[in-house]
Amino acid sequence: MTTLIKNAITEEVPLEKQTAYDEFNVDISETEFPKSGMTPRAAQAIVVSEAWTDANPAQNMSSFVTTFAEEEAIDIARRNMFKNYIDHDMYPQLFAMEKRMVRWLHELWNGPKDVEPYGTATIGSSEACMLGGLAHKWNWRQSRQKDGKDATHPNLVTGGNVQIVWKKFMKYFDVEPRIIPLKPGNYRLTADELKDYVDENTIAVVAIAGSTFTGEDDDIHDIHAWLDDYEKRTGHSVPMHIDGASGGFVNPFLYPDYEWDFRLPRVQSINGSGHKFGLTPPGIGWVIFRERKIFNEDLVFYVNYLGGEMPTATLNFSRNAFQIAVQYYQFLRLGFDGYKRVMAHTLENATTLRNALVESGYFTIMNETQRIPVVALTLDKSVKNFNEFDVSNRVRQRGWVLSAYSMPPNAQEVHSLRIVVRPHINHSSAELLAEDVIKSCEWLSKHGGNATPPVLHTPIEKLEITGTT
Ligand SMILES: Cc1ncc(COP(=O)(O)O)c(C=O)c1O
Repeated sequence: MTTLIKNAITEEVPLEKQTAYDEFNVDISETEFPKSGMTPRAAQAIVVSEAWTDANPAQNMSSFVTTFAEEEAIDIARRNMFKNYIDHDMYPQLFAMEKRMVRWLHELWNGPKDVEPYGTATIGSSEACMLGGLAHKWNWRQSRQKDGKDATHPNLVTGGNVQIVWKKFMKYFDVEPRIIPLKPGNYRLTADELKDYVDENTIAVVAIAGSTFTGEDDDIHDIHAWLDDYEKRTGHSVPMHIDGASGGFVNPFLYPDYEWDFRLPRVQSINGSGHKFGLTPPGIGWVIFRERKIFNEDLVFYVNYLGGEMPTATLNFSRNAFQIAVQYYQFLRLGFDGYKRVMAHTLENATTLRNALVESGYFTIMNETQRIPVVALTLDKSVKNFNEFDVSNRVRQRGWVLSAYSMPPNAQEVHSLRIVVRPHINHSSAELLAEDVIKSCEWLSKHGGNATPPVLHTPIEKLEITGTT
C-alpha cells in the first residue's frame, strides 16, 4: 500500500518519492496541538532547525552552566536518562552514589568529622538554597516556640548582590527580606551594616561564595566574627548559610587555606551547583548540612507509592537521574587534582581576558578580589558614546553572549558587562574573545551606540520591600 504524506503545498507525495524536503516542509501551528504525527526524521529536522538561531552554548559567556562533557560522560547520561531519581527502591545504586557524594562534599567543604553528614542532590542551587532556607526557618521557629517566644516574624539577612532565588525563597516561604543595599564600588556583603538588620527573628545570614554579579565572595569572615560578637552581646545565635553556587566548586581546589566553609562553626549549610563549576550538565545542585540534625526532621516526608518506604525531602519528586551519574563520573574522573588543574587553567584564562580588556583602556574591573573565573567590567569613564549594552549587542555578531546589566540597588546606576570564563574556554579562545570585544569597542567608538538597558518587569525596588511575614 502506498503511504501518502501531505506537505505544506498540499500535494500528496507517495512514499517512494518522498524526500527530506517533503517531510520537513510542513506548517507548525502556534496555537493548535498538532493533529497528527510525522516521521521521526521530520520531527527531528523541525526541532533542530527551529533552534538554529539560538546562541551557541559554548559561546554563551553569560552563563555559569556547564557546556562541555566528555563522550564517556555523555554515554553515562544516555544510559541513565530514563531513571527517575526519586525511585530509590528501583535504583538503589544511584541513591548510593548520591549519598556517597554527599559525604564527599561534606568532607571537601571541611565538615566536622565526628558527625553524621546530611545533604541531598537537587535540581540546581535554587532548590538547594530553598531547602537550606527552610531548615533555618524551621529550626528558628522551633527554638522560639520552645522558649515561649513569638515565632511569627522570621527574617533573613543577606546582601543586595544575592541571587534571585533568595528573594523567591523569602517571598514563597513568608520570610521578611532584609537585604542590605550595595553601594557603587562595593558589590558584596560586609559586616558593616549588620547591626541595622540582624535581630532575634533572623533565621540566618546568607553570605555568598562567588557572587552572580561580580564573582566576589562576601566578607564571610567579618560577618562570622560580627555574629559571634552579636551572640555575646544578646544571647542570640544566628546561623550562616553559604551560597557557594559557584564558589563551592572553586574555593576548595584553588584556595584550600581560605576558610569559607564548615571550618567556620556558624556555617550550618552550604549549597553548590554541580552544573556550574561542578562540571555536570544542567540541572544538578547540592545542599549539604553541617550535620544531620540541622536539616529539621519535620521537613522529611515518608512515602510508599513506589514500593517500600522512602524518605523524601526535596521540593521536586520525579526528576532525571542522569546528572547524579554524570556528577559521580566527574568526581571519579577528575578527582581533587583534576578539579584543581581545571580551575587553575580556567582562572588563568580569565586573567588573560581581564588583563587584555583592562589594557585596552575601554574597561575598568569591578571585582577587586578575583576568586572564581568571572570577569566583571564596567566601561571606563572616558567612554562617552556607547555603553555596556552596545558592547554586548555588538559582540553578539560574532556569536558571543556577554551579559550587560544594571547592578542591584543602591548601585543601579552602575552597568556591568560580565564574562563567565568556563573550563571549556582555552587560552586561544580567551584571546579571540578579548580581540572581538576590543574590536567591538573600536567600532562603537567610531560609530557610537544607542542601546538602552532592558526595563525590568518588576522594579527591583519593589522586590526589596514586598516580603511579608
Ligand atoms: C550565587 C547563586 N546562587 C544561586 C543560584 C541559583 O542557582 P541555579 O541556577 O543552579 O538554580 C545562582 C545561579 O546563578 C547563583 O549564582
